[in-house]
Order: sequence, then structure tokens, then C-alpha cells
Amino acid sequence: MTAARKIIIDTDPGQDDAVAILLALASPDDLDVLGITAVAGNVPLPLTEKNARIVCELAGKPNTRVFAGCAAPLARPLVTAEHVHGKTGLDGPPMVDPTMPLEDQHAVDFIIETLRQEASGTVTLCPLGPLTNIATAFQRAPDIIDRVAAIVLMGGAYFEVGNITPAAEFNIYVDPEAAKIVFASGVDITVLPLDVTHHALTTQARVDAFKALGTQVGETVAAWTNFFERFDKEKYGSAGAPLHDPCVIAYLLWPDIFAGRHINVEIETDGTYTTGMTVADWWRVTDRPANALFIKDIDAEAFFTRLTDRLSRL
Ligand code: RIB
Ligand code: CA
Repeated sequence: MTAARKIIIDTDPGQDDAVAILLALASPDDLDVLGITAVAGNVPLPLTEKNARIVCELAGKPNTRVFAGCAAPLARPLVTAEHVHGKTGLDGPPMVDPTMPLEDQHAVDFIIETLRQEASGTVTLCPLGPLTNIATAFQRAPDIIDRVAAIVLMGGAYFEVGNITPAAEFNIYVDPEAAKIVFASGVDITVLPLDVTHHALTTQARVDAFKALGTQVGETVAAWTNFFERFDKEKYGSAGAPLHDPCVIAYLLWPDIFAGRHINVEIETDGTYTTGMTVADWWRVTDRPANALFIKDIDAEAFFTRLTDRLSRL
């Protein structure tokens, strides 16, 4: 049995972030969640840190360490997504306030300290929201960059184009300066963009499978996806909601159900209409060096079957 992979989940819950956190916490033999760091994104920071704690308690893991991080992007006003996730960020089912504590330490200091204390090359960062915490840690402590094993993040889009502007995906759009720092860091990056997450769509059968678990987790995940999907169904006319962030954790658990290309990805920060765009050189038409594994395909049936099985363990 190989040791569980050490990860830090950086997140802006968000119903899809919540399912990703549940999947990680349901997989202790595979993933050792050293901490969950909240960032402002879908909703403001006081809600994302609270929501992260709510999800840990729902998972029955109240000893998980949750940290509050940056409340605003590096250089721009915060843009949030209540229109997608609701006012609380976890709209859908009724949720109770958490009783587990928030850690006193700032999330960025936790990220820096953990990367300095853990053996080099053993900690994977899993950003599920804007990259503000990660970029701030890299700026404040450049010595940790080479110690990061890998970054596996949800963000960006190319063929699928944008979801918050015609050109940009939300996580990158909220803090493009942070994304630019991360994508230029030289760290081994795997990107789960809208190009793949838009194939991880819920269907009634898949939501029914969550409900059929007969647990509070199953009921809650079904209620979250029912709430969350109304935005995408209306916008894209799609069958259901794309489970964006769980694709990050699923990639760590089952990389074989994904496929992509190692290419150059640059972040637009000065575009009039394209700020926040991930300019993915999929066809390798430039000589810009490859800096990311850009995932485009998923076996969605395997994803939902395995996700539901893991959630049954909580
Ligand atoms: O664009 C989708 C991403 O933005 C997801 O991470 C979702 O939670 C929001 O943060
Ligand atoms: Ca998110």
C-alpha cells in the first residue's frame, strides 16, 4: 500500500467545491488532506471559510484543519458568483452553522509553513477557486515553489470559451494576475478547464444515484446539484450541472479516466475583452514552452460511478 498523497485543497465553496472536498475526505487511503485553505471567489471569504467547515462536518471530519486566506484578488476588486451558487454559496438544502473551529493561522502562512516543513516534492496543491492564496504564498516565499510536488487546479477554458465573460473562466478571471504568477512558476501544473468539466454533467439518473445512497451526504449532494444546475441548464441548455471542482480530486484518484496534452498556457491580463483568458496553445503553433497538462477528455460514466461509490463511504 503506497502512502496517501499529501494535499492542500484551496477552495471557494461553492456547491461543486463542496463535492470535491467530500470526495477527498472520503478517500483517506489515497489522499492525506493536510489542510483546506479558503479564498474569496464564488462568495466572499467569510462565507467560503464557513462553507468549508460546514462541508467538513457534513463529511464527519470536524478535525480537518480549515484556514481563511485572501479576501480579495491581488490587483482587482473581487467578483463573486452568487448568481450561480446562491447568496450563501451553498444554496439548495438547508445548512446548519459549523461548530468546528477555524484555524487562527492565515491560509497563506499555512501553505508556506507546510511546504517548508513537509519533505520537498511531497505536497500537491489543489486550487478549486481563484489563485490568490497560491500566488501570494509564492510571492511571499519564493523558496517554496521548488518544493511543490504539483498543482492540480480547476480553471481556464479554450475550446469551451468563457463562462463569466465570452473569453474567461471564473477562477482565472477573478484573479488573472495570480494565475499569471502560478502558470509562470515552473511548477508541474495540471489544468482541469471547462473543456473537460463541461463533460462531467449531472443527469437525473446520476442525481438519483446520489439520493439512493440514503445518507445525509447523498441527499445534500443531490440538493446542491439540483440548485447548481439551473444556471448551466438555462445558459447552455445542457442536461445538467457540470461538476467542475470534483474533477480535480478525481484526477488525483483516477488519472486514467482523463486525457489531455502538455502545452503552453498563457494568462491574458491586459485584454480589453479577453482579460482572464487561458491562451492554450493546443495546436502548438508557437514556440512557447509547454507549462501545463491541459485536460480535455473524461470518461464521465466512470467519473460519476466512482464518485458516487466514494461518497457512499461518508
Ligand atoms: O468556473 C467554474 C469554477 O468557478 C468552479 O471552481 C466554481 O466553483 C467556481 O469557483
Ligand atoms: Ca470553486
